[in-house]
Amino acid sequence: MSRSAHPAGPRHADVLPEGHYSAPAADLNVLDEKVWSRTVTRDADGALTVGGIAVARLAEEFGTPAYFLDESDFRARCRAWADAFGADADVFYAGKAFLSRAVVRWLKEEGLNLDVCSGGELTTALDAGMPAERIAFHGNNKTVAEIERAVEAGVGRIVLDSFQEIVRVAHVARRHGVRQRVQIRVTVGVEAHTHEFIATAHEDQKFGIALADGQAAEAVRRGLALDALELVGVHSHIGSQIFDMAGFEVSARRVVQLLAEIRDEHGVELPEIDLGGGLGIAYTSDDDPREPHEIAKALTDIVSRECEAAKLRTPRISVEPGRAIVGPTAFTLYEVGTIKPLEGLRTYVSVDGGMSDNIRTALYDAEYTVALVSRTSDAEPMLVRVVGKHCESGDIVVKDAFLPADLAPGDLIAVPATGAYCRSMASNYNHALRPPVVAVRDGEARVIVRRETEEDLLRLDVG
Ligand code: LLP
Repeated sequence: MSRSAHPAGPRHADVLPEGHYSAPAADLNVLDEKVWSRTVTRDADGALTVGGIAVARLAEEFGTPAYFLDESDFRARCRAWADAFGADADVFYAGKAFLSRAVVRWLKEEGLNLDVCSGGELTTALDAGMPAERIAFHGNNKTVAEIERAVEAGVGRIVLDSFQEIVRVAHVARRHGVRQRVQIRVTVGVEAHTHEFIATAHEDQKFGIALADGQAAEAVRRGLALDALELVGVHSHIGSQIFDMAGFEVSARRVVQLLAEIRDEHGVELPEIDLGGGLGIAYTSDDDPREPHEIAKALTDIVSRECEAAKLRTPRISVEPGRAIVGPTAFTLYEVGTIKPLEGLRTYVSVDGGMSDNIRTALYDAEYTVALVSRTSDAEPMLVRVVGKHCESGDIVVKDAFLPADLAPGDLIAVPATGAYCRSMASNYNHALRPPVVAVRDGEARVIVRRETEEDLLRLDVG
Protein backbone atom coordinates (compact mmCIF):
# COMPACT_ATOMS: atom_id res chain seq x y z
CA MET A 1 0.00 0.00 0.00
CA SER A 2 1.21 3.50 -0.83
CA ARG A 3 2.26 5.44 2.22
CA SER A 4 0.29 8.50 1.15
CA ALA A 5 -2.91 6.79 0.14
CA HIS A 6 -5.16 9.12 2.12
CA PRO A 7 -5.96 12.77 1.41
CA ALA A 8 -3.98 15.33 3.35
CA GLY A 9 -5.30 16.35 6.80
CA PRO A 10 -4.23 19.33 8.89
CA ARG A 11 -0.49 19.25 9.41
CA HIS A 12 1.18 22.50 10.20
CA ALA A 13 1.18 24.24 13.57
CA ASP A 14 -0.37 27.37 11.97
CA VAL A 15 -3.53 25.52 10.91
CA LEU A 16 -4.03 23.46 14.05
CA PRO A 17 -7.34 23.52 15.94
CA GLU A 18 -7.47 24.04 19.70
CA GLY A 19 -6.59 21.05 21.83
CA HIS A 20 -4.53 19.66 24.69
CA TYR A 21 -1.27 19.42 22.87
CA SER A 22 2.15 20.93 22.90
CA ALA A 23 3.98 21.63 19.66
CA PRO A 24 5.14 18.47 17.89
CA ALA A 25 8.57 17.20 18.90
CA ALA A 26 11.33 18.40 16.58
CA ASP A 27 11.84 14.83 15.42
CA LEU A 28 8.93 12.40 15.79
CA ASN A 29 11.31 9.45 15.43
CA VAL A 30 13.03 10.25 18.72
CA LEU A 31 11.54 8.31 21.62
CA ASP A 32 11.40 10.40 24.79
CA GLU A 33 12.93 8.13 27.42
CA LYS A 34 10.73 9.74 30.07
CA VAL A 35 7.64 7.98 28.74
CA TRP A 36 9.09 4.73 27.39
CA SER A 37 10.32 1.79 29.46
CA ARG A 38 14.03 1.52 29.97
CA THR A 39 15.00 -1.08 27.39
CA VAL A 40 13.02 0.56 24.59
CA THR A 41 15.10 1.83 21.71
CA ARG A 42 15.02 1.88 17.91
CA ASP A 43 17.04 -0.68 16.00
CA ALA A 44 19.16 -0.01 12.91
CA ASP A 45 16.05 -0.33 10.70
CA GLY A 46 14.20 2.25 12.78
CA ALA A 47 11.80 -0.21 14.40
CA LEU A 48 11.15 0.06 18.10
CA THR A 49 12.62 -2.76 20.15
CA VAL A 50 11.95 -3.69 23.76
CA GLY A 51 14.11 -6.14 25.68
CA GLY A 52 16.04 -6.50 22.42
CA ILE A 53 13.02 -7.64 20.35
CA ALA A 54 11.59 -5.62 17.47
CA VAL A 55 7.90 -4.78 17.51
CA ALA A 56 7.26 -6.36 14.12
CA ARG A 57 8.33 -9.72 15.53
CA LEU A 58 6.26 -9.16 18.66
CA ALA A 59 3.20 -8.24 16.60
CA GLU A 60 3.66 -11.29 14.40
CA GLU A 61 4.03 -13.65 17.32
CA PHE A 62 1.49 -12.20 19.76
CA GLY A 63 -0.85 -10.13 17.58
CA THR A 64 -2.25 -6.69 18.26
CA PRO A 65 -3.50 -5.02 20.32
CA ALA A 66 -1.21 -6.25 23.06
CA TYR A 67 0.55 -4.89 26.10
CA PHE A 68 4.33 -5.45 26.21
CA LEU A 69 5.81 -5.27 29.69
CA ASP A 70 9.52 -4.63 30.16
CA GLU A 71 10.34 -7.07 32.95
CA SER A 72 13.82 -5.77 33.76
CA ASP A 73 12.43 -2.24 34.05
CA PHE A 74 9.68 -3.50 36.37
CA ARG A 75 12.23 -5.25 38.57
CA ALA A 76 14.55 -2.21 38.55
CA ARG A 77 11.71 0.03 39.67
CA CYS A 78 10.83 -2.38 42.49
CA ARG A 79 14.46 -2.29 43.64
CA ALA A 80 14.63 1.50 43.38
CA TRP A 81 11.60 1.85 45.66
CA ALA A 82 12.85 -0.76 48.12
CA ASP A 83 16.35 0.79 48.23
CA ALA A 84 15.00 4.33 48.55
CA PHE A 85 12.94 3.47 51.63
CA GLY A 86 15.50 1.09 53.10
CA ALA A 87 15.19 -1.55 55.77
CA ASP A 88 13.21 0.62 58.18
CA ALA A 89 10.23 0.98 55.87
CA ASP A 90 8.01 -1.23 53.74
CA VAL A 91 6.99 -0.88 50.12
CA PHE A 92 3.67 -2.47 49.18
CA TYR A 93 3.04 -2.67 45.44
CA ALA A 94 -0.63 -1.75 44.76
CA GLY A 95 -1.89 -4.73 42.79
CA LYS A 96 -4.90 -2.86 41.41
CA ALA A 97 -2.54 -1.14 38.94
CA PHE A 98 -1.80 -4.51 37.32
CA LEU A 99 -1.60 -7.94 38.87
CA SER A 100 -0.75 -11.36 37.51
CA ARG A 101 0.98 -14.38 38.97
CA ALA A 102 4.23 -13.55 37.20
CA VAL A 103 4.13 -10.05 38.68
CA VAL A 104 3.56 -11.51 42.15
CA ARG A 105 6.64 -13.69 41.72
CA TRP A 106 8.75 -10.72 40.60
CA LEU A 107 7.58 -8.72 43.62
CA LYS A 108 8.39 -11.59 45.93
CA GLU A 109 11.87 -11.97 44.43
CA GLU A 110 12.56 -8.24 44.61
CA GLY A 111 11.52 -8.08 48.27
CA LEU A 112 8.33 -6.03 47.92
CA ASN A 113 5.06 -6.51 49.76
CA LEU A 114 1.66 -6.45 48.11
CA ASP A 115 -1.53 -4.44 48.60
CA VAL A 116 -4.66 -6.24 47.40
CA CYS A 117 -8.20 -4.87 47.38
CA SER A 118 -10.42 -7.82 46.46
CA GLY A 119 -10.81 -11.54 46.89
CA GLY A 120 -9.61 -11.99 43.30
CA GLU A 121 -6.37 -10.11 43.91
CA LEU A 122 -5.88 -11.98 47.18
CA THR A 123 -6.30 -15.32 45.40
CA THR A 124 -3.81 -14.32 42.70
CA ALA A 125 -1.27 -13.23 45.32
CA LEU A 126 -1.57 -16.39 47.41
CA ASP A 127 -1.65 -18.69 44.41
CA ALA A 128 1.63 -17.24 43.15
CA GLY A 129 3.24 -17.79 46.51
CA MET A 130 3.30 -14.35 48.10
CA PRO A 131 3.65 -15.02 51.84
CA ALA A 132 0.40 -13.92 53.51
CA GLU A 133 2.22 -11.82 56.10
CA ARG A 134 3.51 -9.64 53.24
CA ILE A 135 -0.04 -8.87 52.03
CA ALA A 136 -2.19 -5.89 53.06
CA PHE A 137 -5.91 -6.17 52.39
CA HIS A 138 -7.76 -2.99 51.41
CA GLY A 139 -11.23 -1.98 50.29
CA ASN A 140 -14.15 0.14 51.45
CA ASN A 141 -16.64 -2.73 51.40
CA LYS A 142 -14.89 -6.04 51.85
CA THR A 143 -17.41 -8.85 52.03
CA VAL A 144 -17.48 -11.10 55.07
CA ALA A 145 -16.35 -13.95 52.80
CA GLU A 146 -13.33 -11.91 51.70
CA ILE A 147 -12.49 -11.01 55.29
CA GLU A 148 -12.74 -14.72 56.21
CA ARG A 149 -10.27 -15.65 53.49
CA ALA A 150 -7.86 -12.90 54.44
CA VAL A 151 -7.93 -13.80 58.14
CA GLU A 152 -7.70 -17.52 57.41
CA ALA A 153 -4.71 -16.95 55.12
CA GLY A 154 -3.06 -14.86 57.82
CA VAL A 155 -2.60 -11.59 55.89
CA GLY A 156 -0.16 -9.18 57.51
CA ARG A 157 -2.70 -6.42 57.82
CA ILE A 158 -6.28 -5.57 57.03
CA VAL A 159 -6.88 -1.87 56.47
CA LEU A 160 -10.18 -0.98 58.13
CA ASP A 161 -12.29 1.51 56.24
CA SER A 162 -15.53 1.89 58.26
CA PHE A 163 -17.04 1.36 61.70
CA GLN A 164 -18.94 -1.69 60.45
CA GLU A 165 -15.72 -3.24 59.26
CA ILE A 166 -14.03 -2.84 62.63
CA VAL A 167 -16.72 -5.07 64.09
CA ARG A 168 -16.81 -7.48 61.15
CA VAL A 169 -13.09 -8.13 61.14
CA ALA A 170 -13.06 -8.53 64.93
CA HIS A 171 -15.89 -11.11 64.70
CA VAL A 172 -14.11 -13.11 62.04
CA ALA A 173 -10.78 -12.98 63.87
CA ARG A 174 -12.45 -14.12 67.10
CA ARG A 175 -14.10 -17.02 65.31
CA HIS A 176 -10.70 -18.05 63.98
CA GLY A 177 -9.09 -17.60 67.36
CA VAL A 178 -6.54 -15.09 66.06
CA ARG A 179 -5.60 -11.53 66.80
CA GLN A 180 -5.69 -9.80 63.40
CA ARG A 181 -3.22 -7.01 62.71
CA VAL A 182 -5.13 -3.99 61.37
CA GLN A 183 -4.62 -0.39 60.38
CA ILE A 184 -7.34 2.24 60.24
CA ARG A 185 -7.65 4.22 57.02
CA VAL A 186 -8.24 7.85 57.81
CA THR A 187 -9.36 10.67 55.55
CA VAL A 188 -7.00 13.53 56.17
CA GLY A 189 -8.95 16.24 54.31
CA VAL A 190 -6.34 16.98 51.65
CA GLU A 191 -7.50 18.22 48.26
CA ALA A 192 -5.12 16.36 45.95
CA HIS A 193 -4.49 18.13 42.65
CA THR A 194 -5.63 15.37 40.38
CA HIS A 195 -8.81 14.24 38.61
CA GLU A 196 -11.82 14.16 40.96
CA PHE A 197 -12.39 10.44 40.40
CA ILE A 198 -8.88 9.54 41.58
CA ALA A 199 -8.63 11.91 44.55
CA THR A 200 -9.39 10.13 47.80
CA ALA A 201 -8.58 12.24 50.84
CA HIS A 202 -11.02 15.15 50.58
CA GLU A 203 -14.06 14.82 52.84
CA ASP A 204 -16.82 14.18 50.28
CA GLN A 205 -15.93 10.70 48.96
CA LYS A 206 -16.35 7.11 50.01
CA PHE A 207 -12.97 6.07 51.43
CA GLY A 208 -11.67 6.12 54.98
CA ILE A 209 -12.83 7.55 58.27
CA ALA A 210 -12.62 11.33 58.66
CA LEU A 211 -10.04 12.88 60.94
CA ALA A 212 -11.72 16.26 61.00
CA ASP A 213 -14.85 15.51 63.00
CA GLY A 214 -13.28 13.13 65.49
CA GLN A 215 -14.54 10.00 63.69
CA ALA A 216 -11.02 8.63 63.23
CA ALA A 217 -10.25 9.06 66.95
CA GLU A 218 -13.48 7.21 67.72
CA ALA A 219 -12.53 4.40 65.32
CA VAL A 220 -9.19 4.07 67.10
CA ARG A 221 -11.01 3.89 70.46
CA ARG A 222 -13.19 1.06 69.19
CA GLY A 223 -10.28 -0.72 67.51
CA LEU A 224 -8.17 -0.64 70.65
CA ALA A 225 -11.05 -1.93 72.75
CA LEU A 226 -11.40 -5.16 70.74
CA ASP A 227 -9.09 -7.98 71.80
CA ALA A 228 -9.38 -9.74 68.47
CA LEU A 229 -7.71 -6.78 66.74
CA GLU A 230 -4.13 -5.67 67.02
CA LEU A 231 -4.25 -2.06 65.93
CA VAL A 232 -0.79 -1.39 64.56
CA GLY A 233 -1.21 1.87 62.71
CA VAL A 234 -2.98 4.46 60.68
CA HIS A 235 -3.27 4.62 56.90
CA SER A 236 -3.80 7.52 54.50
CA HIS A 237 -3.99 7.48 50.70
CA ILE A 238 -4.65 10.90 49.22
CA GLY A 239 -5.20 10.08 45.55
CA SER A 240 -3.40 9.22 42.36
CA GLN A 241 -1.16 10.72 39.68
CA ILE A 242 0.12 13.37 42.11
CA PHE A 243 3.36 15.27 41.50
CA ASP A 244 3.20 17.83 44.26
CA MET A 245 4.65 16.53 47.54
CA ALA A 246 2.72 19.17 49.54
CA GLY A 247 -0.36 16.94 49.82
CA PHE A 248 1.73 14.08 51.23
CA GLU A 249 3.36 16.43 53.70
CA VAL A 250 0.00 17.64 55.02
CA SER A 251 -1.22 14.07 55.16
CA ALA A 252 1.88 12.88 57.06
CA ARG A 253 1.58 15.77 59.49
CA ARG A 254 -2.07 15.05 60.24
CA VAL A 255 -1.48 11.34 60.65
CA VAL A 256 1.37 11.98 63.10
CA GLN A 257 -0.87 14.40 64.99
CA LEU A 258 -3.41 11.61 65.33
CA LEU A 259 -0.71 9.27 66.66
CA ALA A 260 0.14 11.90 69.28
CA GLU A 261 -3.52 12.22 70.28
CA ILE A 262 -3.76 8.44 70.55
CA ARG A 263 -0.70 8.40 72.79
CA ASP A 264 -2.18 11.16 74.96
CA GLU A 265 -5.57 9.47 75.28
CA HIS A 266 -4.62 5.80 75.44
CA GLY A 267 -0.97 5.77 76.45
CA VAL A 268 -0.21 3.74 73.30
CA GLU A 269 2.24 4.66 70.53
CA LEU A 270 1.05 2.93 67.37
CA PRO A 271 4.11 1.58 65.59
CA GLU A 272 3.15 2.04 61.90
CA ILE A 273 1.92 4.63 59.44
CA ASP A 274 1.11 4.01 55.82
CA LEU A 275 1.09 6.99 53.47
CA GLY A 276 -0.50 5.15 50.53
CA GLY A 277 0.45 5.40 46.89
CA GLY A 278 -0.43 7.94 44.23
CA LEU A 279 2.92 9.13 42.90
CA GLY A 280 2.64 10.46 39.38
CA ILE A 281 4.40 9.17 36.28
CA ALA A 282 5.18 10.71 32.90
CA TYR A 283 2.42 10.00 30.41
CA THR A 284 3.68 12.72 28.08
CA SER A 285 6.89 14.72 27.80
CA ASP A 286 5.25 17.51 29.83
CA ASP A 287 5.13 15.40 33.02
CA ASP A 288 8.06 15.49 35.46
CA PRO A 289 7.79 12.72 38.01
CA ARG A 290 10.00 12.48 41.08
CA GLU A 291 12.46 9.70 41.65
CA PRO A 292 11.76 7.21 44.47
CA HIS A 293 14.73 8.42 46.52
CA GLU A 294 13.41 12.02 46.46
CA ILE A 295 9.98 10.81 47.51
CA ALA A 296 11.43 8.63 50.26
CA LYS A 297 13.51 11.49 51.59
CA ALA A 298 10.62 13.96 51.56
CA LEU A 299 8.29 11.54 53.35
CA THR A 300 10.73 10.23 55.93
CA ASP A 301 11.98 13.75 56.73
CA ILE A 302 8.52 15.09 57.37
CA VAL A 303 7.50 12.12 59.51
CA SER A 304 10.71 12.30 61.59
CA ARG A 305 10.34 16.05 62.03
CA GLU A 306 6.72 15.84 63.12
CA CYS A 307 7.41 12.92 65.45
CA GLU A 308 10.27 14.78 67.05
CA ALA A 309 8.05 17.81 67.60
CA ALA A 310 5.34 15.61 69.13
CA LYS A 311 7.91 13.61 71.15
CA LEU A 312 6.79 10.37 69.51
CA ARG A 313 8.96 7.43 68.53
CA THR A 314 9.20 7.51 64.73
CA PRO A 315 6.82 4.83 63.43
CA ARG A 316 7.68 2.39 60.67
CA ILE A 317 6.57 3.96 57.39
CA SER A 318 5.02 2.10 54.52
CA VAL A 319 3.99 3.26 51.05
CA GLU A 320 1.89 1.69 48.31
CA PRO A 321 3.01 2.72 44.83
CA GLY A 322 1.18 0.98 41.99
CA ARG A 323 1.34 3.22 38.93
CA ALA A 324 4.86 4.49 39.73
CA ILE A 325 6.18 0.93 39.48
CA VAL A 326 4.25 -0.68 36.66
CA GLY A 327 2.93 2.32 34.72
CA PRO A 328 6.07 3.22 32.80
CA THR A 329 7.07 -0.40 32.16
CA ALA A 330 4.56 -1.24 29.42
CA PHE A 331 3.26 0.06 26.12
CA THR A 332 0.25 -0.96 24.09
CA LEU A 333 0.95 -1.96 20.51
CA TYR A 334 -1.80 -1.35 17.94
CA GLU A 335 -2.13 -1.75 14.22
CA VAL A 336 -3.49 1.20 12.29
CA GLY A 337 -6.72 0.27 10.51
CA THR A 338 -8.33 3.33 8.98
CA ILE A 339 -7.24 6.94 8.63
CA LYS A 340 -9.74 9.82 8.24
CA PRO A 341 -8.46 13.35 7.75
CA LEU A 342 -11.10 15.89 8.82
CA GLU A 343 -10.39 19.14 7.04
CA GLY A 344 -9.60 21.98 9.45
CA LEU A 345 -9.79 19.66 12.46
CA ARG A 346 -7.51 16.67 12.79
CA THR A 347 -6.88 13.22 11.40
CA TYR A 348 -8.66 10.30 13.07
CA VAL A 349 -6.48 7.22 13.23
CA SER A 350 -8.42 4.07 14.15
CA VAL A 351 -6.63 1.20 15.80
CA ASP A 352 -7.60 -2.39 16.53
CA GLY A 353 -8.24 -1.74 20.27
CA GLY A 354 -9.67 1.23 22.09
CA MET A 355 -11.54 2.07 25.27
CA SER A 356 -11.76 -1.62 26.14
CA ASP A 357 -7.97 -1.77 26.61
CA ASN A 358 -7.50 1.80 27.84
CA ILE A 359 -10.49 3.43 29.51
CA ARG A 360 -8.39 6.12 31.19
CA THR A 361 -8.70 8.70 28.41
CA ALA A 362 -12.49 8.46 28.37
CA LEU A 363 -12.84 8.20 32.14
CA TYR A 364 -10.30 10.71 33.45
CA ASP A 365 -9.46 12.81 30.43
CA ALA A 366 -6.03 11.22 30.73
CA GLU A 367 -3.34 12.33 28.33
CA TYR A 368 -1.15 9.92 26.41
CA THR A 369 1.31 10.15 23.62
CA VAL A 370 1.81 7.83 20.65
CA ALA A 371 4.56 6.95 18.22
CA LEU A 372 4.92 5.22 14.89
CA VAL A 373 7.05 2.23 15.89
CA SER A 374 7.25 -0.19 12.96
CA ARG A 375 9.48 2.25 11.05
CA THR A 376 10.78 5.78 11.13
CA SER A 377 9.50 8.52 8.88
CA ASP A 378 10.71 11.89 7.68
CA ALA A 379 7.21 13.06 6.78
CA GLU A 380 5.93 16.20 8.43
CA PRO A 381 3.91 15.95 11.66
CA MET A 382 0.15 15.52 11.40
CA LEU A 383 -2.23 16.21 14.28
CA VAL A 384 -4.06 13.00 15.10
CA ARG A 385 -6.63 11.61 17.44
CA VAL A 386 -6.09 7.91 18.02
CA VAL A 387 -9.43 6.20 18.40
CA GLY A 388 -10.55 2.63 18.87
CA LYS A 389 -13.00 0.35 17.09
CA HIS A 390 -15.86 0.59 19.60
CA CYS A 391 -19.33 1.87 18.85
CA GLU A 392 -18.93 5.02 20.84
CA SER A 393 -17.57 8.43 19.85
CA GLY A 394 -15.85 8.80 23.25
CA ASP A 395 -13.72 5.79 22.33
CA ILE A 396 -10.50 7.79 22.32
CA VAL A 397 -7.09 6.40 23.22
CA VAL A 398 -4.94 9.48 22.58
CA LYS A 399 -6.81 12.73 22.32
CA ASP A 400 -4.21 14.91 20.63
CA ALA A 401 -0.82 13.87 19.36
CA PHE A 402 1.36 14.07 16.31
CA LEU A 403 2.23 11.24 13.95
CA PRO A 404 4.02 11.44 10.61
CA ALA A 405 1.74 12.44 7.77
CA ASP A 406 2.65 9.37 5.73
CA LEU A 407 1.05 7.08 8.32
CA ALA A 408 -0.72 4.22 6.58
CA PRO A 409 -3.01 1.32 7.41
CA GLY A 410 -0.90 -1.60 8.58
CA ASP A 411 1.63 0.59 10.39
CA LEU A 412 2.24 -0.29 14.03
CA ILE A 413 1.83 2.48 16.55
CA ALA A 414 2.43 2.27 20.29
CA VAL A 415 1.10 4.15 23.28
CA PRO A 416 3.63 4.22 26.14
CA ALA A 417 3.02 4.25 29.90
CA THR A 418 0.05 1.89 29.77
CA GLY A 419 1.33 -0.55 32.41
CA ALA A 420 -0.99 0.74 35.13
CA TYR A 421 -4.79 0.69 35.12
CA CYS A 422 -5.12 -0.32 31.48
CA ARG A 423 -5.17 -4.14 31.45
CA SER A 424 -6.52 -4.08 35.02
CA MET A 425 -9.45 -1.89 33.92
CA ALA A 426 -9.94 -3.55 30.53
CA SER A 427 -13.45 -4.60 29.55
CA ASN A 428 -15.26 -6.75 27.05
CA TYR A 429 -17.30 -3.82 25.68
CA ASN A 430 -18.70 -4.77 22.27
CA HIS A 431 -17.44 -8.26 23.08
CA ALA A 432 -13.89 -7.11 22.56
CA LEU A 433 -11.33 -9.72 23.50
CA ARG A 434 -9.04 -8.38 26.20
CA PRO A 435 -5.44 -8.18 24.96
CA PRO A 436 -2.59 -10.27 26.31
CA VAL A 437 0.21 -9.03 28.49
CA VAL A 438 3.57 -10.15 27.20
CA ALA A 439 6.66 -9.86 29.39
CA VAL A 440 9.84 -9.10 27.48
CA ARG A 441 13.29 -9.52 28.93
CA ASP A 442 16.79 -10.09 27.50
CA GLY A 443 15.64 -11.09 24.04
CA GLU A 444 12.83 -13.34 25.25
CA ALA A 445 9.12 -12.66 25.20
CA ARG A 446 6.50 -14.70 27.03
CA VAL A 447 2.80 -14.32 27.57
CA ILE A 448 1.93 -13.73 31.23
CA VAL A 449 -1.76 -13.06 30.65
CA ARG A 450 -3.08 -14.61 27.46
CA ARG A 451 -5.39 -12.95 24.97
CA GLU A 452 -9.04 -13.61 25.57
CA THR A 453 -10.72 -15.75 22.94
CA GLU A 454 -14.24 -15.96 21.61
CA GLU A 455 -14.47 -19.30 23.42
CA ASP A 456 -13.79 -17.43 26.66
CA LEU A 457 -16.74 -15.14 25.89
CA LEU A 458 -19.05 -18.02 25.07
CA ARG A 459 -17.94 -19.96 28.15
CA LEU A 460 -19.43 -17.28 30.41
CA ASP A 461 -22.59 -17.00 28.32
CA VAL A 462 -24.38 -20.09 29.50
CA GLY A 463 -27.14 -19.82 26.94
N1 LLP B 1 -3.08 2.48 47.98
C1 LLP B 1 -4.40 2.66 48.01
C2 LLP B 1 -5.12 2.50 49.27
C3 LLP B 1 -5.09 2.95 46.84
O1 LLP B 1 -6.41 3.12 46.87
C4 LLP B 1 -4.38 3.08 45.62
C5 LLP B 1 -5.06 3.39 44.38
C6 LLP B 1 -2.99 2.89 45.64
C7 LLP B 1 -2.37 2.60 46.85
C8 LLP B 1 -2.14 2.97 44.41
O2 LLP B 1 -2.18 4.18 43.79
P1 LLP B 1 -1.14 4.50 42.59
O3 LLP B 1 0.23 4.58 43.20
O4 LLP B 1 -1.25 3.39 41.62
O5 LLP B 1 -1.63 5.80 42.03
N2 LLP B 1 -7.83 3.86 38.06
C9 LLP B 1 -7.20 5.13 38.41
C10 LLP B 1 -6.42 5.04 39.69
C11 LLP B 1 -7.24 4.54 40.85
C12 LLP B 1 -6.37 4.30 42.03
C13 LLP B 1 -7.11 3.67 43.13
N3 LLP B 1 -6.32 3.46 44.28
C14 LLP B 1 -6.31 5.57 37.24
O6 LLP B 1 -6.28 4.89 36.24
O7 LLP B 1 -5.67 6.60 37.31
